[in-house]
Amino acid sequence: MTTTLITNIGSLVTNDPAHGDTPLGLVENAAVVIEGDRIAWVGPQEKAPAADAVHDAQGRAVIPGFVDSHSHLVFAGDRTQEFNARMSGRSYTAGGIRTTVAATRAATDEELEANLVHHLDEALRQGTTTFETKSGYGLTVEDEARALRIAARHTDEVTYLGAHIVSPDYADDPAAYVALVTGEMLDACAPHARWVDVFCEKGAFDGDQARAILTAGKAKGLLPRVHANQLGYGPGVQLAVELEAASADHCTHLTDEDVDALANSSTVATLLPGAEFSTRAQWPDARRLLDAGVTVALSTDCNPGSSFTSSVPFCIALAVRDMGMTPDEAMWAATAGGAQALRREDVGRLAPGAYADLALLDAPSHVHLAYRPGVPLVSAVWRRGVRAA
Ligand code: NIG
Ligand code: FE
Repeated sequence: MTTTLITNIGSLVTNDPAHGDTPLGLVENAAVVIEGDRIAWVGPQEKAPAADAVHDAQGRAVIPGFVDSHSHLVFAGDRTQEFNARMSGRSYTAGGIRTTVAATRAATDEELEANLVHHLDEALRQGTTTFETKSGYGLTVEDEARALRIAARHTDEVTYLGAHIVSPDYADDPAAYVALVTGEMLDACAPHARWVDVFCEKGAFDGDQARAILTAGKAKGLLPRVHANQLGYGPGVQLAVELEAASADHCTHLTDEDVDALANSSTVATLLPGAEFSTRAQWPDARRLLDAGVTVALSTDCNPGSSFTSSVPFCIALAVRDMGMTPDEAMWAATAGGAQALRREDVGRLAPGAYADLALLDAPSHVHLAYRPGVPLVSAVWRRGVRAA
């Protein structure tokens, strides 16, 4: 197998506790050896073994590729007008999802896939090497199943979100829609997905409906994750913990009991600051969660309604500036945190055996991701050992 040595790395984030004494496992003046699609060696550059090819990082920083554990990328159309109206004072509601449902149903498979690939390329150029994505803009058996089939061609982390909102076709009979989501639609979707998700919120699904949907998904072998406590207080976080969900996502409006429940669980709190930015809403309080001992992940929530950004660096900058995270905590949350939210150990860290997914920054350290917001600092990306951007 071909080996590549990346040498002369000024500052390397490994997320491997074997290095240094912070969770980032920082190594200064480092080198990394890639063999095939995996990391083969990490250490000080003067000890680096020889390799077939050499890449000189010229003193710049290298980080693990970002793990974006929450996105909604199978969609058509956009919601520019809705965004404009919000920025003139209107507030965000789940109702806007219907606009994207109509556009998505009207699109061909080729159009949906081309749009997905466009956003994936955009994300890759900004350092994202692993991403999760969901259905949720089809809301019929056929449209949900095709969204998952298309997503599964591009990632292993595919989530069934038939329970995004009650389909407009069932506006008068939400119970019948829940029956569809837990019955025929689930049967058609489960073979294409790893995860089941539900938007547990006023205007979408209440706690009992969400429990029924997640429980049915689990019975079909899907692992639960929950859109929880985004727009207001509610049962989503407690339900996520009760069902041992890998992640409770958004976590913007939390009681002390919600924070305690997360702290005493294996459920990660995935914070999505692009959504609060684009809906001009209150920021999630990352500091409160971290101080309570909750594991925090940071992701984009990229979707055309509430958070139309594919940029993890942008989310890191927001989290540091407005959510009380340190640059180190935000760096960890966007890589190792995302991996934990997907229950993955082979991504989100640079250690022998992990996938060779890494980003070279045009900066001396990862701190610059927050210190230099909006600047395209990712200058090269390796994914599965191959130079991808
Ligand atoms: O995560 N909260 C629910 N779903 C998306 C928004 C989807 C939309 O507005 O189209 C979210 O923010
Ligand atoms: Fe979302």
